[in-house]
Amino acid sequence: MVSFRAAAAVFAFAGAVAAQSHAAGDYLWPYPAQVTDKKALISARGFTLADNSQNNENVVAAFGRLQASARSRFSASKAKNSLKVTVSIAKDEGFAAKDLVGADESYTLDVSSSGVNVKANTQVGAIYALQTLSQLVTSSGQVVAATVNDAPAYAFRGLMLDTARNFFPIEDIKRIIDGLAYSKINVFHWHIYDSQSFPIDWPSYPQLKATAFKDANGNPKVYTEQDVRDIVQYAFQRNVRVIPEFEAIGHNAVFAAANPSFVVGLNHAPWDGRNGDANNVSTGAVMWGTQWCNQPPCGQIDLTNQAALEFFNQLVAEVGAWFEDPIVHFGHDEFNYRVYGTTPDSWDSVDVNGIYEVMAQAEPKLLQIAETNNKLYGAWDDIVTDFNVQNIIPKDTYIWNWQGDNSAIQNFADQGFTNIIASPSSVYYLDCSPTARWCTSTFERTVPDSALNLPGYATFPGQWHNWTFIYNYDTTAGLTDSAKKAVIGGSVALWTETIKRHNLDRYVFPRTSVFAERYWSGHAAPAYDAVKTAARLERFRTTLINELQIAAADLSYLGNQEGTVFRTEWCDANLATPGQKTHECCFPGEPLTGHNGSPLNTTVGAHFPTGDEADYCKIAASYNTNSFTHVVPKPTPYPY
Ligand SMILES: *[C@@H]1O[C@H](CO)[C@@H](O)[C@H](O)[C@H]1NC(C)=O
Ligand SMILES: *[C@@H]1O[C@H](CO)[C@@H](O)[C@H](O)[C@H]1NC(C)=O
Ligand SMILES: *[C@@H]1O[C@H](CO)[C@@H](O)[C@H](O)[C@H]1NC(C)=O
Repeated sequence: MVSFRAAAAVFAFAGAVAAQSHAAGDYLWPYPAQVTDKKALISARGFTLADNSQNNENVVAAFGRLQASARSRFSASKAKNSLKVTVSIAKDEGFAAKDLVGADESYTLDVSSSGVNVKANTQVGAIYALQTLSQLVTSSGQVVAATVNDAPAYAFRGLMLDTARNFFPIEDIKRIIDGLAYSKINVFHWHIYDSQSFPIDWPSYPQLKATAFKDANGNPKVYTEQDVRDIVQYAFQRNVRVIPEFEAIGHNAVFAAANPSFVVGLNHAPWDGRNGDANNVSTGAVMWGTQWCNQPPCGQIDLTNQAALEFFNQLVAEVGAWFEDPIVHFGHDEFNYRVYGTTPDSWDSVDVNGIYEVMAQAEPKLLQIAETNNKLYGAWDDIVTDFNVQNIIPKDTYIWNWQGDNSAIQNFADQGFTNIIASPSSVYYLDCSPTARWCTSTFERTVPDSALNLPGYATFPGQWHNWTFIYNYDTTAGLTDSAKKAVIGGSVALWTETIKRHNLDRYVFPRTSVFAERYWSGHAAPAYDAVKTAARLERFRTTLINELQIAAADLSYLGNQEGTVFRTEWCDANLATPGQKTHECCFPGEPLTGHNGSPLNTTVGAHFPTGDEADYCKIAASYNTNSFTHVVPKPTPYPY
């Protein structure tokens, strides 16, 4: 196979010889629905926005970004004149963040020596057109003459970021949103809290801040209402919706800080086990049934406690009001039946049917919370597969499909679900890497421990979902036509147990942009070509680095240069809590030897011998999460 680096270099050389050898499409990522190359390069020293195109402040701001991003390239130009950009928007009144839902994103862009004309039905299309225009400026400051007719193949194109396993300051989130916008991704799914931390300054329950991680001065790292609204507004100006996830049921230890009675199974350790019945996956329904929780610290919402549900309602009402998007994601992942036993001693004998009764009572109340607060209901696909509530929830529930692949999507569509978002963990989870061991497909676990480079710690190089793998994956392959219609889009996801501030960017980009092309361009993109696709992506990656200061990974990066195994930030303060003990292999940083020094069984699905426990937080290197920071990447020459 051709190495990506070499491929890019060959292309860069060709570009230096004759820029004209590149067609307009070679400059664009994601590839537009239609592009016509006019076979001419226009000399200009920059762009100016026509007077009659300055009515929309978001378009004016996008134009400002276009000028800033193109400035360094135009500095190579000897031309005297600027190219005038005229923008016309058919429906240009009162466009607000909530209007991004189902918005017309199409645009046409015509670039010729007499000027640039942008036409769009909404400001969304106009803003995208200006981004496309920015890409058409060559490395030597000329503008590629072309006509672009563009619209996305899918309406929903997302990235999920987890700010609970590791805290990211607003500047990091904004930088990620910048990259999403450049990639024409339109959803930032904010997995804002989880069992490890509640990084929200919610005035009604200030005691929840006790679960937030601390900065170097000992202050809680939290997002305030103003921070959230600022991010929502920032995203809106770049066509990005912000969908909050109010994680419910399975990962809720933090709610105990509000009131211990809101949570069952708090801090239970070991946090997974093999006592009681074996994993009975034959039913599918008890997938998570033999475990206390899937990650420390344990704690699930007590669904039988009305006060706990009222508390959750208040959270959705008050914090939910900070967000503009109609959709709210209500979690539902990795629910564990066992903690709903009546007393700790009888947990092992919990009857699944009893849990189904608890859920039959609770799920309508959760739906009611969404309805009361005027929110549309969304959840991980566990809500269809694991609770026996698939006939209680409405068919237009937004279902994030993470557990299965295309056959799961077909199954959900066959059950009548109409809003399916493809997010298969086997492809679209960006954290699967040599330092994350929960990505358990067989190929990911085929590397012997003896081949590992971190003494005493297992890594699995095959886990990295590389960019070609993501690019070539077709979520709709094999689906019936009606199931294809039920797929409204897709989402990549970054869980952050192994992510710190310094490696955030390289886990997100450029793979998220690669995913973006699948969902923006659909079948319009040219067939994958190891040389040409890599060259076009490499040019886009250069724009992320130079224009947005995103430390996007080299295309050859396979996640195996991290140097250390990272653990969740929760461990910084909880090295000694019993909640970290586990019977199951393997989370980042776990030693592979048991209490008596014997090797642990690393087979998929294996549990350690009775009495053996691994230590979730123990790790090779000791470090303080706060010492990691975003490293601004050095500018890199545009390939062409
Ligand atoms: C798994 O569950 C099914 C259905 O409840 C039951 O018939 C079967 O005996 C269970 N298998 C085991 C190994 O417990
Ligand atoms: C990318 O991932 C695919 C699927 O796992 C694999 O076949 C391929 O070899 C990987 N490419 C590289 C360069 O590692
Ligand atoms: C490891 O676990 C697997 C799966 O449970 C089991 O089949 C195998 O016998 C175990 N190996 C050892 C050495 O215990």
